Amino acid sequence: MSDGNKNIDEISGTETTGHEWDGIEELNTPMPRWWLGLFYLCILWAIGYAILMPSIPFLNSHFKGLLGYSDRAAVAMDVEAMDAQRYSMSTRLTGASLEGIQADPDLFRFAMAAGKSSFGNNCATCHGSGGQGFKGYPNLNDDIWLWGGTFDQIRHTLVVGIRAEHAETQANLMQAYGRDGLLDDEQIDDLAEYLLAFNSTDRDSEAVLRGRTIFAEQCVSCHGENAKGDQSQGAPNLTDNYWLYGGTKEDIVQTLYGGRQGVMPNWDERLSPETITALAVYVHSLGGGVDTPSPSMPVDGASQEDLQ
Ligand code: HEC
Ligand code: HEC
Repeated sequence: MSDGNKNIDEISGTETTGHEWDGIEELNTPMPRWWLGLFYLCILWAIGYAILMPSIPFLNSHFKGLLGYSDRAAVAMDVEAMDAQRYSMSTRLTGASLEGIQADPDLFRFAMAAGKSSFGNNCATCHGSGGQGFKGYPNLNDDIWLWGGTFDQIRHTLVVGIRAEHAETQANLMQAYGRDGLLDDEQIDDLAEYLLAFNSTDRDSEAVLRGRTIFAEQCVSCHGENAKGDQSQGAPNLTDNYWLYGGTKEDIVQTLYGGRQGVMPNWDERLSPETITALAVYVHSLGGGVDTPSPSMPVDGASQEDLQ
């Protein structure tokens, strides 16, 4: 149907605007309703948003909006909340037991993350980034411990150190048997043969027996009657074929000649108690730390019998 006042394009049947250039007419196609509706809605939304939220810039400030929202304040509040959470996490570590920490997954995760990062900053230089250790610097991943691998023992080692400056540091000095003239070269050689015989069969059996006698006289007070060590004195097991200072004959002779006094710093003055607890959780988790009481000095002499 066509209205007499309107110009209708014959071909498309659409109303034209009446503009015409060289016989080409402009069609008047209105926007679809849904599109217009959306358009007006957007305008309304923009006006509403501008009134409620910070929007219009002034010379020295800006219109703050009726809601008074501020990104800056929101971030500050988030940071504050995070700090508060971290602080409460951190204080919960004070004096916590391993069971207590492990029973709380959030606290455990927090302790592990804090321990790992502190380990990278303070410990990796000596113990390696994964705690794998180097010659003279113990591997913390295995289950071989000088002073004990329970959570409490590890924590104690971190607080007082080993041969460190703390008044109650864990200290036990193995003498420089050769340098100080306590044993001659032959005796040292015999001792090395004796120790190597725990893990290999092709040793000089005469020397091994002589070494065994010297060991019984000189070494059992710290390393135990069957050389299995004593964690209460930081004296390593000498039968497990794990050597902190190397396991070749030259290494062992050198150990006996000059003695060994590894130093692990005490951390009580440099790190907070919470950080030390986090570090103990982390080191304990590395795989070595079983929480069984440190074994008392073993007394059975099975391995000794094998030598005879
Ligand atoms: C300056 C080097 C050095 C730094 C730094 C150091 N350690 Fe040690 N650590 C040692 C040495 C050396 C020993 C072994 C001491 C010994 O021979 O008795 C040791 C021993 C230990 C032990 C005892 C291992 C055992 O078998 O009983 C633990 C646990 C330990 N370190 C953890 C740490 C942690 C955690 C840090 C970081 C806070 C750290 N160490 C930083 C040198 C270091
Ligand atoms: C006063 C206690 C004490 C006596 C006695 C002693 N040791 Fe030790 N020995 C230690 C301690 C502590 C260590 C660990 C040193 C360190 O970690 O720096 C050690 C380390 C060693 C090591 C190095 C182990 C390794 O893993 O590299 C050997 C080998 C050893 N002792 C053999 C002997 C022999 C053999 C005798 C007897 C002649 C002896 N020790 C007497 C305390 C003692």
